[in-house]
Amino acid sequence: MNSQILGTGSYVPDQVLTNAELERMVETSDVWIRERTGIRERRIAKSGQPCSDLATRAGRQALAAAKLSASDLDLILVATCTGDSPLPATACLVQHHLGATRAAACDVGAACCGFLYALTIADAYVRTGARAVLVIGAEVMSVITDWTDRNTCVLFGDGAGAVVVGPTNDDVGIQAVRLHANGQLAHVIEVPGGGSRYPASEHIIQNKLPYIKMRGNETFKIAVKTMEEAVREVLAVTNVSIEQIDLFIPHQANIRILQAVGQRLGLPMNKTVINLDRLGNTSAASIPLAIDEAVRNGRIRKGMRVLIAAFGAGLTWGAGLIRW
Ligand code: ACO
Repeated sequence: MNSQILGTGSYVPDQVLTNAELERMVETSDVWIRERTGIRERRIAKSGQPCSDLATRAGRQALAAAKLSASDLDLILVATCTGDSPLPATACLVQHHLGATRAAACDVGAACCGFLYALTIADAYVRTGARAVLVIGAEVMSVITDWTDRNTCVLFGDGAGAVVVGPTNDDVGIQAVRLHANGQLAHVIEVPGGGSRYPASEHIIQNKLPYIKMRGNETFKIAVKTMEEAVREVLAVTNVSIEQIDLFIPHQANIRILQAVGQRLGLPMNKTVINLDRLGNTSAASIPLAIDEAVRNGRIRKGMRVLIAAFGAGLTWGAGLIRW
């Protein structure tokens, strides 16, 4: 038995933050941001709008697309690094908002790679008998962004994407996923404060430790190398050639990373789905947001081979192949 995606959904906040507005906040320029990242604008959640709100809206849409009701769900997974609070899991709040009383619920923390990790767990749960798993990638990156740091504040955006995963006896769905991590490189991307190592305090806030710190250049090089390797691993295990890939849906961190990965793999850019120009880097939400957009605008069609790949803090990375 395989698991397949039965329905998709997404939600982005209405508020748009343009590069021109960022020019007024830090020393940067629209040209620099577009040329170095490919980002034109990003969405920002309303003040006080929590991750669970974004996640619930995306989840509800995915359920409707799958023609299932909340009571059909066996499990809800929310991939996020910006959950409502340390306790309880944001997925439990989503379970309550949806009224999915039968569903188990927990969060998955693998930063930008979180959706791929959560999808892998959903796939395994379905193979052991579950009928419907809701997998959501949801982030309010704006709350862990230091809006005075031009190295990071131009990059991130808020949003949520969701898929419902269920069983199939056909040879479609999730064909293979390969996941990796290297905690030795944890310092490359981190939010150092606010957890048990540096608990919340005035000192922590003054030193801006609850905000994202990233060694951008190092991240860039590792992201290109690891995503290429993970994709090659998935192609080898599924015995599929790069020419047989119909669509590539990578984590949306930087257009130059996506171009470099595509070039190394021999995958033309017209097969790559891009949303970072309008949404920025939405971390765990970027892949399900892109999947939902591609489904809704008809870019993903039945029978297609869809490749996904992600990279993020941890460090974590991986790739997967879905036969639609
Ligand atoms: N505007 C203007 N200048 C800037 C800005 C800005 N917003 N940000 C940095 N600069 C400057 C730097 O200070 C530096 O100046 P200097 O040469 O005088 O020191 C110069 O631009 C070049 O800086 P680099 O860091 O070398 O620029 P780079 O081309 O590498 O682009 C970027 C930086 C966009 C961050 C890129 O490295 C990148 O996208 N990295 C990958 C990010 C990523 O993949 N993240 C994914 C994980 S995120 C997660 O897991 C939550």
